[in-house]
Amino acid sequence: MLKINNTGLFCNRELMKVRSAVFEKSVTKVKDCPSTGFPEVAFIGRSNVGKSSLINLLFERKKLAKTSATPGKTQTINYFLINRNWCAVDLPGYGWAKVSRDKKLAWSGFVREYLLSRENLMCLFVLLDIRLEPQPIDLQFLNWTVEQKIPIALVFTKSDKLPKNKIIGAVEKYESELKKHWEFLPEIFITSAEDKTGRNDLLIYIDSILKD
Ligand code: GTP
Ligand code: MG
Repeated sequence: MLKINNTGLFCNRELMKVRSAVFEKSVTKVKDCPSTGFPEVAFIGRSNVGKSSLINLLFERKKLAKTSATPGKTQTINYFLINRNWCAVDLPGYGWAKVSRDKKLAWSGFVREYLLSRENLMCLFVLLDIRLEPQPIDLQFLNWTVEQKIPIALVFTKSDKLPKNKIIGAVEKYESELKKHWEFLPEIFITSAEDKTGRNDLLIYIDSILKD
């Protein structure tokens, strides 16, 4: 059975209120990440998949995270302090062809280090464009996160761009690909920054992680 959370799995749980959401800082070195010790969740995925848009959707702030139609907009680790007690982290996208080799290496360096060393990272949301077939770069990245025991959840983005009757099929395709290598599937969310699909489920899930 599909384990998608937009089915109302969490319908009995109360929705977290976003009382405050403020940009805290941008860093390119893990040692510069905030030392407050607040729990954090991070968002990663291919350039242009919709990471920054999803953050704006979650916190209902149109310009909190900078979005762009041109891939490669987010190039730093961006911290947002939410409700003064936890952080959302917007990470640079991977797989942007136009960036120079040097820059690519630097990014993969600090993002990798962040993912491997950040002890207060409670969940890494890996974003996938629901319109695309499973892509090698995403599968490679996902397999790496599991090898490294990084806690992940999958978030399909841009569901408004796919006819409703194609959504489940697109997710199932991904699931069968992942099941080739994985015994267990992570939580899966379907979202749209356009029509707000998935916002409540994601917030409820984050709330449950933070309370664990
Ligand atoms: P980088 O920072 O460059 O890695 O990109 P990103 O993953 O942060 O993507 P961003 O949020 O900047 O969005 C990229 C483009 O996709 C923008 O033009 C957004 O308006 C668009 N977009 C993002 N999410 C959605 C969505 O759910 N639906 C639709 N239709 N467009 C979206
Ligand atoms: Mg971005």
